[in-house]
Amino acid sequence: MNRRKFVSLGFFGSGAGMFGYGSLIERRFPVVERVDCRLPERHAELDGLRVAAMSDFHHDDFHDDTLMARAIEATNALEPDVVMLPGDFISRDVAGMDALVVHLAGLRARLGVFAMLGNHDQWSRRSEAVAGKLEKAGVPVLRNAVTTLRAPSGQRFHVAGLESAWAGRPDPHAMLRGIASDDPVLLGWHEPDPWDWLEDRRVLLQVAGHTHGGQVCAPFYGAIQLPHLGERYVAGLFERDESRLYVTRGIGSLGVPVRFCCPPEIALITLRAPERV
Ligand SMILES: [Fe+2]
Repeated sequence: MNRRKFVSLGFFGSGAGMFGYGSLIERRFPVVERVDCRLPERHAELDGLRVAAMSDFHHDDFHDDTLMARAIEATNALEPDVVMLPGDFISRDVAGMDALVVHLAGLRARLGVFAMLGNHDQWSRRSEAVAGKLEKAGVPVLRNAVTTLRAPSGQRFHVAGLESAWAGRPDPHAMLRGIASDDPVLLGWHEPDPWDWLEDRRVLLQVAGHTHGGQVCAPFYGAIQLPHLGERYVAGLFERDESRLYVTRGIGSLGVPVRFCCPPEIALITLRAPERV
């Protein structure tokens, strides 16, 4: 074997090995990421509130009931107060919702499970069908809407949801109309980058998905390809003044059934009162 053949064979072999690992192992085992989210002093009574987040199931693309069963079991074991599901339940085929909602109906949270729609859920006039199947399975869908809850401390807060910034008609002003000027709002909004557009002191935290964290990442480099409105804030917690953004890597895969250096994620965000010195 000449040198050129040897190098190409090695290159092909390691590529096939990475694809096999990313397809058969990494993309099938969700990881729990725990993060503390610091609150402003005026909302210290929300201290300890636990918000779980899962997004980007794309369940029609590479239907994986084992992955979903693992994700639901892991989320329920976290005993969250609230679960937020900020969109992209499917890629294009609404029929994929039937298998997905069987899993989502098994989610448990003290105060409720809430969904928001992503760009794939809203393209090609799929919004009504996707939202209808979620609602029928007992998962309320917040489309420019708000629901009011009470934390264990008795503190009133709101969970809100906007339509997709890419494919829907998000209307933050209509959504927040009627919310008192100092009430805390936890917002689900599929695309992360519009966090820059939203400056309202009521919104303490935006929970987003959309980026898949890159889905396929290169070691020491990061995401190779990112979507529109998901190029600036790729994954994890971001802070700006009193506002916070959490971007989850999501559960499913889009385009290719592979995740590499970017496993599926269940986020557990715990709200924390500011440290008193
Ligand atoms: Fe998306």
